[in-house]
Amino acid sequence: MSLMRLAYASEATFAAKPVEKGVEPNVARILMVSRRNNAKDKIVGGLYYGDDRFFQYLEGDEEAVRKLYDRISRDERHRNITILLEEPIEARTFTNWSMKYVPLSSDVNRFLDSQGMDAFRPSEFNRDQCEEMIRLIRDSSQDGRVVSHNGVRSARKKQTVIPGGILTGLIVAVVVVVGAMVYASTML
Ligand SMILES: Cc1cc2nc3c(=O)[nH]c(=O)nc-3n(C[C@H](O)[C@H](O)[C@H](O)COP(=O)(O)O)c2cc1C
Repeated sequence: MSLMRLAYASEATFAAKPVEKGVEPNVARILMVSRRNNAKDKIVGGLYYGDDRFFQYLEGDEEAVRKLYDRISRDERHRNITILLEEPIEARTFTNWSMKYVPLSSDVNRFLDSQGMDAFRPSEFNRDQCEEMIRLIRDSSQDGRVVSHNGVRSARKKQTVIPGGILTGLIVAVVVVVGAMVYASTML
């Protein structure tokens, strides 16, 4: 049984719904079905969604991957599908993941910045950039928050240094400490 890997880029045909937390609903549905089917077909890989574009990486038995790609390429939720990588491999590299989703993008943003790209346009990736994306998906941790990817580049600019919750906590702590000091000084 021969193994292969395949990576492609595509453009979403749906308008991303704004979500505070969690995964964009269309993408969440894709992930749910993908995880169920891929686990059954022993296909592993990762999906990145940002700036209305997809980058997907698949590994598995050649026949299973080709069959899946054939299904995916006919899916009307995306268009302009460009295959970036398609080749045999010796072994799987995404153990335990039927379809890993990369929710947070700071690493990818850093990578895009380093490549002088101001938006996520995976169809323009060369081979090295493609390998780097695969590495980022493979190495990313899913322990953190799951954040929507829509407008990921602009969202990054809106990040504050101290998150709101922590800031409020700090202010409350300062007020309590100052209050305690004032109270203590009146006891002297
Ligand atoms: C960007 C994108 C990625 C997808 N990835 C997968 C995938 O990895 N596995 C999968 O089974 N379906 C994937 N799908 C969904 C398939 O196109 C198809 O809807 C699905 O496999 C049908 O499964 P079902 O026959 O169990 O309903 C993807 C769709 C899109 C738009």
